[in-house]
Amino acid sequence: MSTDRYAVMGNPIGHSKSPEIHRQFARQTGQAISYEALLVELDGFATAVDRFQVEGGKGLNITVPFKQEAWELTHERSERAELAGAVNTIVFREAADHYGDNTDGVGLVRDLTANHNVILRDRLVLVLGAGGAVRGVLAPLLEQRPASLVIANRTDHKAEELARLFADLGEISGCGFDALAGQEFDIVINGTAASLQGQVPSLPDDVLAADATCYDMMYSAGPTAFQLWAQGRGAAQALDGLGMLVEQAAESFYLWRGVRPQTEPVIARLRAEMNG
Ligand code: ATR
Repeated sequence: MSTDRYAVMGNPIGHSKSPEIHRQFARQTGQAISYEALLVELDGFATAVDRFQVEGGKGLNITVPFKQEAWELTHERSERAELAGAVNTIVFREAADHYGDNTDGVGLVRDLTANHNVILRDRLVLVLGAGGAVRGVLAPLLEQRPASLVIANRTDHKAEELARLFADLGEISGCGFDALAGQEFDIVINGTAASLQGQVPSLPDDVLAADATCYDMMYSAGPTAFQLWAQGRGAAQALDGLGMLVEQAAESFYLWRGVRPQTEPVIARLRAEMNG
């Protein structure tokens, strides 16, 4: 049996968990694939993608900072990638034909709904941040038909612009953090880069409804700053983004191989390794 080659490209890439996740998927499903992490020079992305395909590669994951560039160089894209303005999964179908998809949003929604039994339908959802990470998840979130989705961002006009872009897909609005005063939300999703610096967006104190679920799209060995903030304000659940990472990987694996791996054992194993 020949081994099909896949990889994740990014910069930096050293700490990527994707190779380990995909190796576990491959073992579990009996798929003959290899998967490596490739560090790509900031000005060398398109060349690296072409080279990988010429060398026989079958598909790629793309991470920071190349997701927008990946969107530009794919020839055909899924609707969710089109809306995200970013591509995190490339499928090489024929010579010089790159199909682009974005599995981040479906990864988030699956982690929330399937792994944590969070219902988004008819709920009041708050999303923090208005960068690429947030744009990537808005369409799949709106597909769940929340009662409303508010995007709040430190720079308020970016949240307003993003809301305008997605206005056809559901009840969505954008504002700054201060404008949240007096409003309560059932589900609060942190998509800001603040967690990377151990910071939390400066939110009014009373934005969490009783039984609120808080979700940080980031993850770390211990709780993130946003999880600690949520726990301190009485959130019923304060979740991190490890499950999202594994779920987006599972969706990419499915696109490439036509087989859906089980995610729970992989999430459990990564969690144990992170805490061990
Ligand atoms: P990404 O692709 O990860 O989304 P980005 O496009 O640079 O990265 O967006 C980063 C997001 O995190 C933005 O919403 C940013 O807010 P601004 O638009 O006001 O810059 C947000 N962010 C970063 N650091 C933050 C902090 N310390 N507090 C609140 N928001 C922060």
